[in-house]
Order: sequence, then structure tokens, then C-alpha cells
Amino acid sequence: MIVRGLFLLVLPFTALQQPATPVPWMAPPEADAYQDPLAADTKATVRGEKVFTALCWTCHGITGQGDGPNATALKMRPATLASPAVQHQSNGALYWKVTHGRGEMASYKEVLTRDERWAVVHYLRTLASR
Ligand code: HEC
Repeated sequence: MIVRGLFLLVLPFTALQQPATPVPWMAPPEADAYQDPLAADTKATVRGEKVFTALCWTCHGITGQGDGPNATALKMRPATLASPAVQHQSNGALYWKVTHGRGEMASYKEVLTRDERWAVVHYLRTLASR
């Protein structure tokens, strides 16, 4: 009982600790130099679309606007993947973020193969024009 009481006290407190302005998320500089193994693969975008429509759109929205059906349940708004701020990052940096995750954005290192993670980065590029 005491433990449960403490938990209820701590929860609202941690919710108040969320920073008003999210801390920018930077991939380490070496990620920019990663060799993209799918650079010449013309099927990469199609493969990446399958990953995106299975795992990512529920938060990020089907066109990458950060407005998926699960977005409102999160403390942090999912990134607008179609935005210049995301699109200006290198493939390696985006691959690194999908691999490692941060906060409510999970790490996909164990969920997706290396090629699936690169493929979804290729698909993210198609969101730029929407
Ligand atoms: C549970 C909701 C959720 C799911 C599912 C999800 N994301 Fe995210 N994503 C987030 C949130 C929230 C952030 C912002 C994280 C932060 O800045 O701390 C984010 C951030 C990102 C970023 C970094 C954008 C930037 O600002 O540089 C990329 C890239 C990304 N997600 C891609 C994906 C991909 C690809 C998938 C599917 C494999 C995916 N996400 C699935 C919630 C989600």
C-alpha cells in the first residue's frame, strides 16, 4: 500500500518535469559518415514503406506530419519527419536515431534488421515533398 501511494505521488511530479521546449536531438557526428548499404538499391524505398506503414505511422502520421493516432497519448510530440529540420539530416544521422531511439521513440536495433532501418530512412525521403 505504501509503495502504491508513493507511486501515485511521484507520477504527477515527473510529468511536471518535462521540459517546455524539447532538447534538440543530435546524432553523433560520425553517423554522417556511415556508408549507406542501400545507396544504389532501387527497391529500398518500397521496402522502407512497408516498415513505415507497419511501425512508424501510428505516431508520426502517414505523411510524416507528427499527427498519427497515438501522437496525443505521448508526452513528446513525434517529430515532423517531412520537415526541413529532419530532411536536412544525413541518411546516417537518421539511421542512427532509428537504431538508438530516445525517450518515447523506441530503439529499433532489435526490432528491425540493419537493412530495414536503412530502407525506412530511404522512405522518409519521400515524405519531404508532402
Ligand atoms: C511511440 C511513438 C513512435 C513510434 C512508433 C515511432 N516514433 Fe519516431 N519519434 C517519436 C518521438 C516522440 C520522437 C521525438 C523523440 C525526441 O526528440 O526525444 C521521434 C523521433 C524520430 C526521429 C528523429 C527526428 C528528429 O527530430 O531528428 C526519427 C528519424 C524517427 N522518429 C523515425 C521513426 C521511424 C522510422 C519509426 C518506425 C520504425 C518511428 N520513428 C516510430 C515517436 C515515435
